[in-house]
Amino acid sequence: MANSAARAQIGVTGLAVMGSNIARNFAKHGYTVALHNRSIAKTDALLAEHGGDGEFVRTETVEEFVAALEKPRRVLIMVKAGDATDAVIEELAAAMEPGDIIIDGGNALYTDTIRREAAMKARGLNFVGAGISGGEEGALNGPSIMPGGPAESYESLGPLLESIAAQVDGTPCCTHIGPDGSGHFVKMVHNGIEYADMQLIGEAYNLFRDALGFDAARIADVFTEWNTGDLESYLVEITAEVLRQVDAKTGKPLVDVIVDAAEQKGTGRWTVKAALDLGIPVTGIAEAVFARALSGARAQRAAARGLASGALADKPTDVEQFTEDIRQALYASKVVAYAQGFDQIAAGSAEYDWNLHPGDLATIWRGGCIIRARFLNRIKDAYEQNPELPSLILAPYFREAIETAIDSWRRVVITATALGIPVPAFASSLSYYDALRAERLPAALTQGQRDFFGAHTYERIDADGKYHTLWSGDRSEVSAS
Ligand code: 6PG
Repeated sequence: MANSAARAQIGVTGLAVMGSNIARNFAKHGYTVALHNRSIAKTDALLAEHGGDGEFVRTETVEEFVAALEKPRRVLIMVKAGDATDAVIEELAAAMEPGDIIIDGGNALYTDTIRREAAMKARGLNFVGAGISGGEEGALNGPSIMPGGPAESYESLGPLLESIAAQVDGTPCCTHIGPDGSGHFVKMVHNGIEYADMQLIGEAYNLFRDALGFDAARIADVFTEWNTGDLESYLVEITAEVLRQVDAKTGKPLVDVIVDAAEQKGTGRWTVKAALDLGIPVTGIAEAVFARALSGARAQRAAARGLASGALADKPTDVEQFTEDIRQALYASKVVAYAQGFDQIAAGSAEYDWNLHPGDLATIWRGGCIIRARFLNRIKDAYEQNPELPSLILAPYFREAIETAIDSWRRVVITATALGIPVPAFASSLSYYDALRAERLPAALTQGQRDFFGAHTYERIDADGKYHTLWSGDRSEVSAS
């Protein structure tokens, strides 16, 4: 019920579905929730439909909204990331007092959050960039929450967020991530991993359809089976649901009548851009972003229709074996994609001095978020056993899993390539794995080429220091240290 006298423990501004659902989640957990929205209609709609979920305070102005909050005031902004967020922050900051807390729960770019946190800190306000994953259902019933910002503000904010977060084995899928933009940074990488996971599942689906001739319902059965084993995850689960859906209009599988052009709001792109700046090869995530872009290049694809396929092999006949091969290839490629994502988190932590703990992230990603999966328990175990893992791939559990999968993985990439079926993420993940373990890489030749045309120098395997060859002279080598 709306109660103007109540002193709210949390305020939510921005009452679209995500904002409304998270406000309801707080109310259902016993908190008094102050509500605010640019248009009062959304506030009244929420109260009319769900006012019975708990204690709400209806407010119309920002001043009324802020005045309804107990101190230190805690306000959660749930508006579309971008300029709108800055405007709302400014309006709130003007009405709030030192020690109050502003939380941005949108998918903000972490560099914006770093800037905003510094600006609010200068005004005595605590600014928390919080990644919130799990979509509308997660917001209502338990998301994974990744709050960054000042550690002291988490003392006041943490209990509220942890109470509404998803819970796994009695542990909330929420923890203080680290300073300033770290929360939005790890949410961004979560989304990048989500893209890679979805691309890998899509490539497996494509192989079942084009190499084995399975229809959507039969592929759904495979994913349902897989969801009882090591590949158990939200994304595998919903894949089976999407594939089973029949289009009411045509009677065909819905997936067969959806346009094959994937869209993207941008968090995957941000992840790859950030990885490029950090010098971290996130090949799985990058292939997923590029695959979405290529799928959307409709005119170019239409012009390319009919290009030679050059298929070099017959389709697999041992359906059972190839199905297992695809499962193994999916698992191994997923290990690579997650390993790369965690490498990027480690690099971001070092770059921004955030002191992030990868095991904590695996722990809070086990539930509530889009990439939630049994797999994350294995990652949590790996980092608990060795927090300094040079790569997740080197964790004994994953090293052995890939040893088991490697022949299948190679067969899948070979078969797909021979049949002309695109598997950019499967193939790039396998090449990444082979490059990571290689004794020698062709980078030695690259260094020679760079020294030839740009005198960029090189190191030697048998001596310290940098060297340059006098390519346009007598081709003798000189020290360049
Ligand atoms: C989540 C999701 C969410 C994401 C949308 C759309 O963690 O709940 O990752 O934050 O923004 O699912 O993402 P794309 O449009 O980029 O696919």
